[in-house]
Amino acid sequence: MLRNFLSLVPLLFFLVSGCKQLHKPLSVASPDEKNTITFHLSETGEPYYKVMRNGEVLVNDSRLGLEFADYESLAGNLEIVNSSITTFDETWTQPWGETEKIRNHYNELVITLQEQAETARSFSIVFRAYDDGVAFRYEVPDFAQGKEYHITNELTEFELAHDFNAWWIPAYGEGMDYEALFSNDKLSSLTENIHTPLTLEQGDSLYVSVHEASLINYAGMTLKPSGKTLSCDLVPWSTGEKVRMTGDLTTPWRTLQIAENAGDLVTSYLILNLNEPSKLENTDWIEPAKYAGIWWGMHIKTQTWGSGPQHGATTENTKALIDFAAANNLKGVLAEGWNVGWDGDWSSGEFSFTEPYPDYDIAELSAYAASKGVGLVAHHETGGNVIHYESQLKDALEFLKAHNIHYLKTGYVCDKTNGKEYHQSQYMVNHYNKVMKMAAEYEVMLDVHEPVKATGLRRTYPNMMTREGVRGTEYEAWSEGNPPEHTVILPFTRGLAGPIDYTPGIFDITIKNQPDFRVHTTLAKQLALYVALYSPLHMAADLPEHYEGQPAVQFIRDVPTDWSETKVLSAKIGEHYTVARKDRNSEDWYIGSITNAEGRAIEVSLDFLTDGEKYEAQLYVDGENASMEENPLAITISTQEVSKNENLTIRLAPGGGAAIRFKKLSESI
Ligand code: NOJ
Repeated sequence: MLRNFLSLVPLLFFLVSGCKQLHKPLSVASPDEKNTITFHLSETGEPYYKVMRNGEVLVNDSRLGLEFADYESLAGNLEIVNSSITTFDETWTQPWGETEKIRNHYNELVITLQEQAETARSFSIVFRAYDDGVAFRYEVPDFAQGKEYHITNELTEFELAHDFNAWWIPAYGEGMDYEALFSNDKLSSLTENIHTPLTLEQGDSLYVSVHEASLINYAGMTLKPSGKTLSCDLVPWSTGEKVRMTGDLTTPWRTLQIAENAGDLVTSYLILNLNEPSKLENTDWIEPAKYAGIWWGMHIKTQTWGSGPQHGATTENTKALIDFAAANNLKGVLAEGWNVGWDGDWSSGEFSFTEPYPDYDIAELSAYAASKGVGLVAHHETGGNVIHYESQLKDALEFLKAHNIHYLKTGYVCDKTNGKEYHQSQYMVNHYNKVMKMAAEYEVMLDVHEPVKATGLRRTYPNMMTREGVRGTEYEAWSEGNPPEHTVILPFTRGLAGPIDYTPGIFDITIKNQPDFRVHTTLAKQLALYVALYSPLHMAADLPEHYEGQPAVQFIRDVPTDWSETKVLSAKIGEHYTVARKDRNSEDWYIGSITNAEGRAIEVSLDFLTDGEKYEAQLYVDGENASMEENPLAITISTQEVSKNENLTIRLAPGGGAAIRFKKLSESI
């Protein structure tokens, strides 16, 4: 009898497994049903997902899973033990931003998997389907009983259905991380690891951005290409492992934003939606701003960071800049080179963040700035010496508090921090997040240079205002510069991650003090960048004397850095970009329109304006014979009355741009 029963065991096991429908695919669709993610287990219990867009495959069956040191991987021999689908729909308000109201509407599928082994570890994969894309992440309860364990590899793959055109930068290229020019190549031709966001284009009707959201206590994801497949390749610690973890593990979201036109990627807020709501109860002290600075002078070599006759950050120079800021509607004044540590080779990062140079009287400047309604923007260049910086961080923030300073620009110039760790590694992710949280406690808003990539954490910590992580204006001062197509690629690539501190506003286009270098735009395009490249902190980057007597500076005075709406009016990656934004604090609208090396006319409908209202359009456009190469300074400033049901033709010179303010007139039509 027992014999007979035992021979039945395998059959019973099979039947029970069959009841659980081990390998039956599970799907979740977006609210509009355009995007579907389907999960299944292979015969051997390996997890796979697939993404469909409008009924067609976008991502073929692609691997999922995690590998560990000293523990079996969670990547095979799994069974589904539970699954559930829920819906979420909520509209939330950004305290500041490119738009005020954001709808967070998705369907979520949670699948709990269990190892078919003695260890019987279980974990979940959470999938979310939004109308503008899909996302998923791993949630793994602690299996190491409180001991540290290491992730050696995340097996996530994106096996794309098309050989897309990829707009990419290398993950381990030469020079500073994220400061490369973008290339445009077929996905299948790529051979080196690339950074996210990675923007993919198929004809002119399918656009995808691969990125991640909510990067907390984990390593940044780079993508390793092979044919049409991209594999997640996490940035390692100097010791080789990818992630060190104790306790429960929640990975960042793996994200695919999907659109039929490039402009819809720009107005997709999926990355923000995948982050937790604000943890800051009071955000009244957080204020978008424009700022001036002792900065460009160092890059064009009229001033120095270190002490000496050309020292930029002196009390006298800073006071003059405070006067300039107050007269030009700029709220902040940055002074780089204010603190001891810049003399000699500063790359060792032996800075003091509490000791100003003797010719920089911070107490006097703080009082002077306050009397003019201007705030000081502090600067902490760390040279990537993070150990040294962290040892001073609390004192440095106390010092800011003592001097009533609420804006802070940080910097991490180096190949690897502490001589060994990558900027996108878990070590640095944790450092940047620590500074962000501590800064919030001190009511300090951040502008981070040489940052970790943006993944939407500004939603949770709205003091995380803006960051570099881009090849910005400074390159125009000392390198071959930024070709005109660069800024018409950025809104669709790097810009999808979050705000960019690009530092526009150079009027001295041919850089008189550095005749071998120049800015690769027209003057009008410098103005257009304030609207085209979104940032809640924007610099008026040039020296005050270059703005003197220039009527075009009026646009820099007027342009806001906080918006209630954003609408993309023209979008072709690498060619042109036109965006309209509504001021958060008035009824005025602004347009920024930019082009690559080609001149063109862009016709836009003004139907974003309010019905029945009249507006004065104040136009700052390329002059008749303007061109970036030959005649960059030619600008035409004019006004005309317009209303909603009109079209406007914007003429852009080669390498040019246009900046327009639509000032609502009090009288209605
Ligand atoms: C690089 C930053 O991007 C730049 O803005 C700054 O002036 C220098 N580092 C010095 O900190």
